[in-house]
Amino acid sequence: MNYLYGVVLALVASAVSGDDCGAAFRGRCNCGMREYNSKTSYVVNCTDEGFRDTDVLEHMPLQAEVLIFTGNYIDELPWNVFGAMNDLANLTIVDMSNNHIREIRGKAYHHVPNVKRLILNHNNLSISRYDDDEYNHHHPRVFSNFINLMELHLTNAFADNTSAELSADLHDIFVSSNLTKLTKLHLEQNEIVQFNDKRVFCDLPSLMDLHLGDNLLKEINFNITCLKKLRFLDLERNKFESVRPHDMAMMDTLASHHDGINLMVDFTFNPLNCDCSIFPLYEWMSKSKVTVRNRDNLMCFRNKKHQEPILTLNMKKCQKVRTGKRDHTVTLVFVLACLSCILIVLVGSLIYVSKDKLKTLITPVVDHVSKKVQYTSIKDEEAAPEQYV
Ligand SMILES: *[C@@H]1O[C@H](CO)[C@@H](O)[C@H](O)[C@H]1NC(C)=O
Ligand SMILES: *[C@@H]1O[C@H](CO)[C@@H](O)[C@H](O)[C@H]1NC(C)=O
Ligand SMILES: *[C@@H]1O[C@H](CO)[C@@H](O)[C@H](O)[C@H]1NC(C)=O
Ligand SMILES: *[C@@H]1O[C@H](CO)[C@@H](O)[C@H](O)[C@H]1NC(C)=O
Ligand SMILES: *[C@@H]1O[C@H](CO)[C@@H](O)[C@H](O)[C@H]1NC(C)=O
Ligand SMILES: *[C@@H]1O[C@H](CO)[C@@H](O)[C@H](O)[C@H]1NC(C)=O
Repeated sequence: MNYLYGVVLALVASAVSGDDCGAAFRGRCNCGMREYNSKTSYVVNCTDEGFRDTDVLEHMPLQAEVLIFTGNYIDELPWNVFGAMNDLANLTIVDMSNNHIREIRGKAYHHVPNVKRLILNHNNLSISRYDDDEYNHHHPRVFSNFINLMELHLTNAFADNTSAELSADLHDIFVSSNLTKLTKLHLEQNEIVQFNDKRVFCDLPSLMDLHLGDNLLKEINFNITCLKKLRFLDLERNKFESVRPHDMAMMDTLASHHDGINLMVDFTFNPLNCDCSIFPLYEWMSKSKVTVRNRDNLMCFRNKKHQEPILTLNMKKCQKVRTGKRDHTVTLVFVLACLSCILIVLVGSLIYVSKDKLKTLITPVVDHVSKKVQYTSIKDEEAAPEQYV
């Protein structure tokens, strides 16, 4: 009797804490209470199981809090990945990195009201409406059911050579998906050269951390003043050779509208030049409200080789050149503008006042000129043969 009791207890124990995810999983994956991000949660772990579709996920244990589904070969996420009926009320983290996913259907994710973190790093996503004629990859509502999503990880998520319209397509997705609570967005390693759509992030009103490291950006050519909550802009390892005064002014504008939030920007490991083009940044770093991360060790490159901390550069020369130049141009432009105005007014009034007189003056002159032209051409014709005589 005791023996039987023990067996039953063991069975119950294994059912509660055990590694069985249910019959549909056929022993693949790994389910149970686990440590994840220093918190004990019910984790469904399907790492490197060689799945080629997501069918098993329709039978996920309902108590799942964390789903790790990585290292598989999923070409396309179908509609209702987690089943049409299930309500995974406790699911808060979904990690689908590294699955070679090419496409996510518009309604792939349903019944995920409490997912706070979605990770789709290292995939092969294509979201452009122009990528493929026979197939439209553009599903602007892909993330629309994540009404509580706070973190979206899209590091190296898009296929290489994604079309230049990535920003417009992303913007469509952000607009249609209503990600009003998103605070962190990761877009590292996506070969982004620029954002054609300046307002690409403007429909993410809660965004606090924008990670754009390891891309190919040369300037901040998108609007950040619309991101009222932004506190960290990551631009590490991009292609900045200098920072445009326009970009610094934009950050200043944003910082001046922030109350209580400190804006920080990270320019480390950019190919900044150690010449006078760095002077605006040099000056800005010491006076702006915006914090430049790792400011004292921010390096620039001399002849693309030797690194020097920007703040130790001797900027006296640049300062003189710049202030001198600016003063000169300003005065010059002003004087020129004044003179042009006066000239235009004078000429205009002169013409107006003496328009009749001018007419009488001009007519004979014109006549004279045309006559003279006729004469000279006749003269030339007469003169020409003489040379040969
Ligand atoms: C998930 O499974 C993989 C391989 O089986 C393991 O390396 C990883 O640590 C597991 N993750 C968690 C959170 O249990
Ligand atoms: C979800 O979590 C709550 C609190 O931890 C728990 O009481 C409830 O049973 C869980 N729901 C499911 C379906 O397991
Ligand atoms: C990504 O997709 C492209 C075509 O869309 C394909 O040529 C390439 O091999 C894929 N790469 C990976 C790593 O799956
Ligand atoms: C991406 O495009 C560049 C030039 O346009 C080409 O050299 C490179 O091979 C392409 N890479 C892929 C993975 O298609
Ligand atoms: C977007 O979400 C908010 C709340 O999160 C909701 O009030 C609003 O109606 C939604 N808008 C659309 C267009 O779905
Ligand atoms: C950025 O957007 C704000 C409003 O959202 C607008 O006032 C501002 O002019 C825009 N700035 C640029 C540089 O487009």
